[in-house]
Amino acid sequence: MCGIVGYIGDENAYKVLIGGLHRLEYRGYDSAGVALVSPEGHLNVYKARGKVSNLENFCKDKNTDGLVGIAHTRWATHGEPSDCNAHPHFSEDGNIALVHNGTIENYKILKDALMEHGCKFHSETDTEVLVQLIEYIRINNKCSLVDAVREALRQVVGAYAIAVIEKNNPDTIIAARQSSPLVIGIGDNDFFLASDATPFVEFTDNVVYVEDGQIAVIKRGEPLKLLDLDNRESTVDVKKLQISISQLEKGGYPHFMLKEIFEQPETLRDCIRGRVVDNGRRVILNGVLDNKERFLKAKRIVLVACGTSWHASLLGKYLLQDMCKIPVTVEYASEFRYSNPVLDENDIVIAVSQSGETADTLAAIKIARSMGAFVYGISNVVGSSIPRETHSGTYIHVGPEIGVASTKAFTGQVMVLTLLAICIGHLKGLLSDHEVERLGHHILQIPDYVKRTLELNESIERLSLIYTYARNFLYLGRGYSYPVALEGALKLKEISYIHAEGYPAAEMKHGPIALIDSEMPSVIIAPKDHLYDKIVNNVQQVKARGGNIIAIVSDGDETISGIADHVLKVPDMPECLTPIITSIPLQLLSYHIAINKGKDVDMPRNLAKSVTVE
Ligand code: AGP
Ligand code: GLU
Repeated sequence: MCGIVGYIGDENAYKVLIGGLHRLEYRGYDSAGVALVSPEGHLNVYKARGKVSNLENFCKDKNTDGLVGIAHTRWATHGEPSDCNAHPHFSEDGNIALVHNGTIENYKILKDALMEHGCKFHSETDTEVLVQLIEYIRINNKCSLVDAVREALRQVVGAYAIAVIEKNNPDTIIAARQSSPLVIGIGDNDFFLASDATPFVEFTDNVVYVEDGQIAVIKRGEPLKLLDLDNRESTVDVKKLQISISQLEKGGYPHFMLKEIFEQPETLRDCIRGRVVDNGRRVILNGVLDNKERFLKAKRIVLVACGTSWHASLLGKYLLQDMCKIPVTVEYASEFRYSNPVLDENDIVIAVSQSGETADTLAAIKIARSMGAFVYGISNVVGSSIPRETHSGTYIHVGPEIGVASTKAFTGQVMVLTLLAICIGHLKGLLSDHEVERLGHHILQIPDYVKRTLELNESIERLSLIYTYARNFLYLGRGYSYPVALEGALKLKEISYIHAEGYPAAEMKHGPIALIDSEMPSVIIAPKDHLYDKIVNNVQQVKARGGNIIAIVSDGDETISGIADHVLKVPDMPECLTPIITSIPLQLLSYHIAINKGKDVDMPRNLAKSVTVE
C-alpha cells in the first residue's frame, strides 16, 4: 500500500502533491509527508502522523515554495505510524529525499552493513535503508543520482515504487518500480508521478506505466527516459488515460462508499454494455472468444484472489461449475503462492482483483504462468499490473472505486464472472440458445433491479439503529447466497469494527449455533432458489434459540417473512443472478451501522484499499 506522488514543472509543487495525496489516501493514512526543493535550494521535508489534513495543518506556517517535490501517504509495514517513521526519508547529509511503497526484505542486512560504515538511522522503517544506501553509493562512487539509485536497487530484495529527489539537483526526479505500481503523467511543461493516475487526471491524460525493473529519469525540459537495472534504455510507450475528475469526486454524497453503492445501476450497465447484445440473445466476452480453444480444452479452473474479490471468485465457482461443468477451485492468493500448486497447460487460472495491484494475486499469476497455465485477469483499473501480466482478461468497467470497502467492484466482478460462465457454457454447448436468452434478458434488467433494491435504503437506515450496538453478527446463506453472506460479514467488520461471521447456513448447526442468543443477530440471505425450503429450516433453528433475524428474501416471500424479525424484500430473479441483488442491502446495512457508530467508512482503521505488500 502507501501512495507516492511526485511533481516537477512550472507550478507550485506542494499544491499538486497535496491534491495528489488526497486522491491516494485510500492507499494508506497512517502518516503523510512531503519533500520540496525550495527556490533557495533547501530540501524542506515536512511530515505528520495521521491523515493528509494533519500534514496540511502542520505545513500552514512553513515554506512550501518549490517547483519540484515528492510526497507520501503511508500504510505502515515496518515501524509504527509516527512522525519519525513517516516518509519522505532523507539521507544523513540532508541532500537526498525518498518516498517508497513496498517492503525491502533484506533491509536488516543492508542496514547492519551501513551502520558498520558509520551510517546513523533515525526511523524503524525498511525504507530508510534505501535512502542511506543511495547516499552512501553516491558519495563513495562519486556517481550521479541515477547511477547511485540503480546500484542501490541492484542490492535490494523486495518490492518498491520509489521517487527520489536531490537538493543539489532540483531539475530531476528519479523513480523506479519493482512489484509496486508506478505511473508517470506527461504534461506540456511538467511531469507527474504517482502510484496510480488519479492524482494528475486534471493535468494530463498522457501516461506511461513503468514496468518492473525500470528506472525513470524525469528531467525538467527533457524527454522521459526509462532504463533497466543494467542501464539499457527502453522505449517509452505513452498511453491515453481513461478516467475523468467527476469519477473521483463524491458527487453530493457524504461518503465515497455511499456514492459507490448508489452508482451500481450505472456501473453494472457499463459493465454489461457491448457484452450482452441482441436483446440478451448473445453474451460476448472477447477475452474468452479470442482464446476459445484454451477455454474448450480446460480441464480445471483455479480462481485466485483476496478479500472481497475472493468472495466474488467463490461465486465464480458456483457459476462456472453450474454452467460449464468444469471443476473449479478457489484459492486465497496469499495461500496459493506458498502451497506448491500443481498446474499445467490444461488449467486456466483466473485472477480477480479490483485494483489489479494486489501483491499476492500478482505473485500467484507469476507462478501460474511459469507452470504453463493460461492466466485470465478480471480487474477494474485499466493499465494496472494484473491486466498486463495476464494472457487475456476482462475489465469490470465500474469506474474508480475510492471507498476502502469494496461495493461496486464486487457486483461488477460477479457480473463479469456470470458473463464468463454463460459465454463458456454456451461455447461448450452446455447452455442452449434459449437459456442464454433467458439469462441475458434478466441481466439486461439487473441495473433496474438494483435501482429498486436501493429503495430499501431508508428502511435499512431505520433498521440499523436497532443493531448498531450489537457486538457480534452472524451472516448465513446457502448455495449462491453463501458467498454473499461472507461478503456481508466482511463489509460489517471492516467499517463498523463489529465482529461478524459469514457461514453456510446448514453448517451453522455444527458449531456457531452455540453462539446464538438474543444479543447476536443473524442476517439470513434467503432469496427464492432451489435451497429455499432447506434454509427455512435453518431460520427456524435460529428462531428456536431466541436469535433475532434480519432476512433478505425475494418479493412475494411468505414463509421466512412470517418467522424473521425484519424482512428486506428484493426483486425475484433466476437463482444465479441473485447475489448481485442480495448483496446490496448488506452493503447499506454495514454503511448505516458504521455511520451510527461514528466511524470513518471511507478510510476504516488499519486498512488500505490496495494491498501491494505481502
Ligand atoms: C474489500 O472491501 C477489501 N477492502 C479487501 O478485502 C479487498 O477486496 C482485497 O484487498 C482485494 O483487493 P483487490 O480486489 O484490489 O485485489
Ligand atoms: N515499508 C514502508 C513503510 O513501512 C512502506 C509501506 C508500504 O508501502 O505499504 O513505511
